[in-house]
Amino acid sequence: MVSSGMHEIETKHTVIIGDSRSMREIEDESIHLVVTSPPYPMIEIWDSLFRNLDEKIDRLWRKMEASSRDEYVREIYDLMHENLEMVWREVYRVLIPGGIACVNIGDATRTFKEVFRVFPNHARTIEIFEKIGFVTLPYILWKKPTTKPRYKGKGAFLGSGMLPPNAYVTLDCEYILIFRKGEPRRFKPHDPLRYASKYTKEERDQWFTQIWDVAGAKQQMPEVERRVAAFPEEIPRRLIRMFSIIGDTVLDPFLGTGTTMKAAIDLMRNSIGYEIDRSLLPLIEEKVGVRRRRIDRKYRVSIVESCGT
Ligand SMILES: C[S@@+](CC[C@H](N)C(=O)[O-])C[C@H]1O[C@@H](n2cnc3c(N)ncnc32)[C@H](O)[C@@H]1O
Repeated sequence: MVSSGMHEIETKHTVIIGDSRSMREIEDESIHLVVTSPPYPMIEIWDSLFRNLDEKIDRLWRKMEASSRDEYVREIYDLMHENLEMVWREVYRVLIPGGIACVNIGDATRTFKEVFRVFPNHARTIEIFEKIGFVTLPYILWKKPTTKPRYKGKGAFLGSGMLPPNAYVTLDCEYILIFRKGEPRRFKPHDPLRYASKYTKEERDQWFTQIWDVAGAKQQMPEVERRVAAFPEEIPRRLIRMFSIIGDTVLDPFLGTGTTMKAAIDLMRNSIGYEIDRSLLPLIEEKVGVRRRRIDRKYRVSIVESCGT
């Protein structure tokens, strides 16, 4: 609960069913904060999404499957990031000067044609944001509670038991990358909404550290949330309170099950979310309280089709 010390404000939330590579529905410089988690390049659950998004990826994938070598892998990885880059460029356009973008992304490990390697998605994403013109701020390492070392298959240990030197480190952290568009935001002295949004000293000491040990929050729909790799609500809650004030507008260009929107409703921020997979709509509606309306907040949710679809 936000202790606003003031009357609750009514907030507005828009779910846009469509492709965030073009966010035509959003005006330039109208978003205060972006909190999102994209599909991670080279993580298997997202292969078909990238292949459907970009027929060049699909074509190269087929060539790679038919080839005995891994010669197309690098090109496919580049193209996946080029598709995400289109969204990051839109994020830059719609953010206000001083607006912040928080991107939860993990690296991938994978074996193609007998070669095991890491795909450092976080490093590539930082390079892309820098190229677009963002300022890179210190990032957070989210220590995932569920990851255990893998013993099976061609993963971490290659069946070598305790024998050096051919085992691999398990990736058990994800990144929350933080970027700003230009100079920090400025506020009038004693801005009431800013003051109503403040966090406690304990929250500050816990949140503004580099390693977050956020346990998986109680999941309402665990199976689907696992399928789309939903983040626990605690992640967007913290980021929204750290980097926006009451009444701001938060965007999630990869809405998934609507976790960011739910946190925005709770925290009296407006929000917009894009989701390309229309089959997630009933879950989004459930999570953000479209059918069973929440009585503790004043909010309106609209669902629209993107003009680009
Ligand atoms: C990692 S999931 C996001 C999960 C979300 N944070 C949650 O808590 O439910 C990424 C989502 O982005 C969607 N997506 C991928 N590419 C998209 C695009 N170009 N436009 C809109 N949505 C996209 C996928 O369908 C998927 O639901």
